[in-house]
Amino acid sequence: MNQPVMGGVAALNVPAYIKHQQLINWVADIAALTKPDSIYWCDGSEEEYDRLCAQMVDAGTMKKLNPAKRPNSYLAWSDPTDVARVEDRTYICAATKEQAGPTNNWMDPAEMRRTLNGLFDGCMAGRTLYVVPFSMGPLGSPIAHIGVELSDSPYVAVNMRIMTRMGKAVYDVLGTDGAFVPCVHTVGMPLSAGQQDVPWPCNATKYIVHYPESREIWSFGSGYGGNALLGKKCFALRIASNMGYQEAQAGGTGWLAEHMLILGVESPKGDKKYIAAAFPSACGKTNFAMLIPPAAFDGWKVTTIGDDIAWIKPGPDGQLVAINPEAGYFGVAPGTNDKTNPNCMASLRENVIFTNVALTDDGDVWWEGMTKELPAHLVDWQGKDWTPALGTKAAHPNARFTVAATQNPVIDQAWDDPAGVPISAFIFGGRRSTTVPLVTEANNWVEGVYMAATMGSETTAAAAGQMGIVRRDPFAMLPFIGYNMSDYFQHWLDMGKKVQAAQPKIFCVNWFRTDDKGSFVWPGYGDNMRVLKWILDRADDSVPAGNAHLFGSSPSYGDLNWEGIDFTEAQFEQITSIDKDAWVEELKLHSELFDKLAYRLPQELVETKARLEKQLG
Ligand code: GTP
Ligand code: SPV
Ligand code: MN
Repeated sequence: MNQPVMGGVAALNVPAYIKHQQLINWVADIAALTKPDSIYWCDGSEEEYDRLCAQMVDAGTMKKLNPAKRPNSYLAWSDPTDVARVEDRTYICAATKEQAGPTNNWMDPAEMRRTLNGLFDGCMAGRTLYVVPFSMGPLGSPIAHIGVELSDSPYVAVNMRIMTRMGKAVYDVLGTDGAFVPCVHTVGMPLSAGQQDVPWPCNATKYIVHYPESREIWSFGSGYGGNALLGKKCFALRIASNMGYQEAQAGGTGWLAEHMLILGVESPKGDKKYIAAAFPSACGKTNFAMLIPPAAFDGWKVTTIGDDIAWIKPGPDGQLVAINPEAGYFGVAPGTNDKTNPNCMASLRENVIFTNVALTDDGDVWWEGMTKELPAHLVDWQGKDWTPALGTKAAHPNARFTVAATQNPVIDQAWDDPAGVPISAFIFGGRRSTTVPLVTEANNWVEGVYMAATMGSETTAAAAGQMGIVRRDPFAMLPFIGYNMSDYFQHWLDMGKKVQAAQPKIFCVNWFRTDDKGSFVWPGYGDNMRVLKWILDRADDSVPAGNAHLFGSSPSYGDLNWEGIDFTEAQFEQITSIDKDAWVEELKLHSELFDKLAYRLPQELVETKARLEKQLG
């Protein structure tokens, strides 16, 4: 159905298969505001993906990699100022500041709307507005939620096709009046008549804005990752965490949206368990989710449900069950190689979009840590000639790949089962060079929630800002909780009571303790299986509890399987020792967080801290 062009307003050209008038009206309204040259309704087909990629190759946004080396794959280099999530520009515009809580940026929604209306007015001039329909979770399943992203970035459109169930089938699910989360995104660089575009348009001014009441997302100025692929952090974590909380507030069971990988482990006997694990950004979720057990664990198999986000709710058997709402991986490239993550390397053989990695002379990609030997010559992520002598990084530390989950050789057969998988244990892990031991089991749900709530981690390149400073990152969700963090803690405590009969045990791990030279002591990666095995055995009490200490209990050296690895008891001591003075300092940091959250902080957590302080003396 072709509608006439009127007064410079782009023709809507609504495809006949879309019957949702409210959605059509919304697209028309946003087009009237943003004033694109044209509107394109994505159908999610392969033909469309190929066409948009070819168009971006012509525009200089992407390079097609050598098909003999990396079939059907592309490389994009972003603007050097647009390389990571921008947490200080991210807002939760709830009705009141208190609802957003002290850990989120907040602005009065009416004021924010005025600001954004100004910025979005005409922001798509000279560009195409892409209508990107997507489902988080299996299409049409009762736990899935639908979003529609309007974006002037074709890079967003093709990435969303990999990361979500994107395409015209979404409209069948929506029907004439189905609910969807409206997501508006612009790179914020309108083109005046005849103005030449740049390869990676963006704007120095950035806003990543969420309105939890109306469940809307508005993103301005960035084309990168979580800032722009709005189904991921904005929807599946910030808006979804709020939805799960609100459902409980309204008297329902409620649910959790978490920054967690989900993995399956099968024993040689065929017993299968699922574990959900939260680590902050660029702290090892993708690696853990695809782990290959060392030879000592002959017959054990780890499979992936998801690598970044879990939606979790009480299931029919009173157990917590989880799904991965995503359909692809937007993972950290640097550090990934055939030793650290062979399954990931296998996933990346073809059909990949790489962003901000280096280009080799034979038209393939390279990043720091990919090979032992450095290539003699590369073109770095900023398009400059690179040789090892320069000493600079050829790939940006937050360089990423986008790849379909189905390319993972160890994808779990239940990875897109709408019923979800039952969770046997939760793991929380931070990046800590000191203080926090290799693994600790919490004494109970409340102490586990306390442990997760007070977790600290060193910052990484995944977010703009200084790297390597320890900050509190409760539940690895500091940048992703879409409501008041104190209420989030309470929601977790309440959830524990709802699944009392089948509460998963809670564990805390740290792969990142270093020696006095700053090197990691723990080998990590596949060897994390040694810790995972102990956790699995503790999850169903098939081995006795570890040694009780201040925060819970931890295994002795002899409790882990050391076959095939030369890791001494002294080294084990180095990464499991509990330094009392360090923990006195650590508790002060817990206090800092609790002071900030004092208003509405659950009493159970306050009491837990008081008990710990008393024990520490
Ligand atoms: P996001 O996608 O940003 O949410 O992060 P992620 O948690 O999925 O990050 P990923 O698994 O890609 O982690 C990447 C970083 O963690 C790289 O620097 C890896 O080298 C490092 N890493 C992962 N696992 C381990 C480990 O077991 N030991 C050590 N020392 N480093 C690890
Ligand atoms: C993270 O930063 O936790 C990510 C990458 O998973 S991004 O999608 O850019 O947020
Ligand atoms: Mn993440």
